[in-house]
Amino acid sequence: MYRVLNLQIFLLFLYIFNLNATNLALPCSGCHGPNGVSSGDSIPSINNLDKEYFIKSFNDYKTGVRDHYIMKIIANGYTKNQIELLADYYDKKE
Ligand code: HEC
Repeated sequence: MYRVLNLQIFLLFLYIFNLNATNLALPCSGCHGPNGVSSGDSIPSINNLDKEYFIKSFNDYKTGVRDHYIMKIIANGYTKNQIELLADYYDKKE
């Protein structure tokens, strides 16, 4: 009984905070492609990126260690937890 309740509360939280990697990744697909495979040379593919590398690059865009106007704005829009969800999501994309 408690387990079922916990799951429902968890799902409710997911819904409220929109902590769903597929939704979080929607704005990325316009540039990086629907599965993280970009169509041109100017934008890197991000499918299959190592999770640690992904998290580091987001933090580097946030802090300015990596200087890129667009990715800085984007990285600033995501919390630590959301970045981990995204990193996990793209790490598993073939
Ligand atoms: C408007 C286009 C655009 C959007 C939208 C966008 N990106 Fe990017 N992204 C870029 C470009 C251009 C670069 C290359 C920047 C550079 O030279 O460092 C990049 C770089 C990256 C990198 C570093 C890749 C590497 O090989 O080092 C990651 C990771 C990344 N983006 C993830 C994302 C994620 C996740 C989202 C969605 C939350 C997103 N991007 C949305 C354009 C975009």
